[in-house]
Amino acid sequence: MRIGIIGAGAVARYHAAAAARIPEMKLTAVCDLLLESAAAVAGPSGAAVFTDYIALLDSGLVDSVIVNTPHGLHRQMVVAAADRGLDVLVEKPMATTVADCNAMAAVCRAAGVTLLVGQIQHFLPEKLAVQRALAAGELGEVLMIHDFRSTDYRPGHRSAWFFDRAMSGGGAFMNIGGHCLDRSLWFGGAPAISVHARTLNRFDAPVETDGDMELCLANGVAVSIGIVSDMPRHVDEIRVVCDRGLIIADPRKGTFLQRDGRTTILHESGPEDIETGFLFQLQEFAAVVAGAPPEVSLTHARHIVQVILAAYDSALTGTAVAL
Ligand SMILES: NC(=O)c1ccc[n+]([C@@H]2O[C@H](COP(=O)([O-])OP(=O)(O)OC[C@H]3O[C@@H](n4cnc5c(N)ncnc54)[C@H](O)[C@@H]3O)[C@@H](O)[C@H]2O)c1
Repeated sequence: MRIGIIGAGAVARYHAAAAARIPEMKLTAVCDLLLESAAAVAGPSGAAVFTDYIALLDSGLVDSVIVNTPHGLHRQMVVAAADRGLDVLVEKPMATTVADCNAMAAVCRAAGVTLLVGQIQHFLPEKLAVQRALAAGELGEVLMIHDFRSTDYRPGHRSAWFFDRAMSGGGAFMNIGGHCLDRSLWFGGAPAISVHARTLNRFDAPVETDGDMELCLANGVAVSIGIVSDMPRHVDEIRVVCDRGLIIADPRKGTFLQRDGRTTILHESGPEDIETGFLFQLQEFAAVVAGAPPEVSLTHARHIVQVILAAYDSALTGTAVAL
């Protein structure tokens, strides 16, 4: 598979490194508005560099692309790739509106190309360890999930487009909340039927910088998500409370199962875990292009966007929103 990357920002190097580790894949093109960014991601791979993504799509150099750009551009880039018969892995969030998610899915289905959304939580080693333990059934039913992440939404501390609602679709919820929803809905095992949320706009930011979401899932599982900016230390912890024990996962520490006063280490985090997650994700993309059923459905990716938008409505009205 000859693969191109569109958008050579913070996360592009993980995709490029993953592509370099897959024998049947070759990075052949990279595009960014800034030529030097594209060249930096292309590195010594020999990939051609572009500043116009349409030129990359029309180059004849790629069979598939990774769309890795500001959220508001995902739809147009995915549709343009599908129109040319190219398979697409698009970064999370799938898009900024449910209508855009539906349009992307419909266009790709009609064109007969694969569309996968990079819901990376499904591929991170410490989260896979959680899912394996839940599937083993030893802990019984999942009852309650607490998910907390710190971030930094002070203007100036991330690319400017993250603060432009038209381009980002929102702030901490749309970006970081999407990760929390990805894993919480996965481990919770059902879609959300209601959300009650609060948001804060600190640091004079034009998008939310912090927030809480309380979800009720269709199977009765209660999910609580908290996101706070500018913490003295980074926190990224999910606690899955079950009938007969609980599991805690943190990408900097690992995955720990607690049952009857005893702790079992399910996964010890290592410095290569993030790279491994991006490798697993790209291997999954290659497998789906080859005909395998996807681990992460478009329905899941679209539901995440739907819940975030409902959370914005809830924060505005101060009441729970049914989904
Ligand atoms: N999976 C993860 O863990 C993870 C982590 C961070 C970001 N992301 C997602 O990855 C995507 C990109 O985020 P980022 O942090 O890399 O952002 P970024 O701002 O660092 O990079 C975005 C890049 O896109 C380029 N770009 C903008 N418009 C373009 C256009 N028309 N054509 C070509 N290039 C264009 C910009 O020049 C920039 O280099 C977002 O969807 C984000 O939510 C995912």
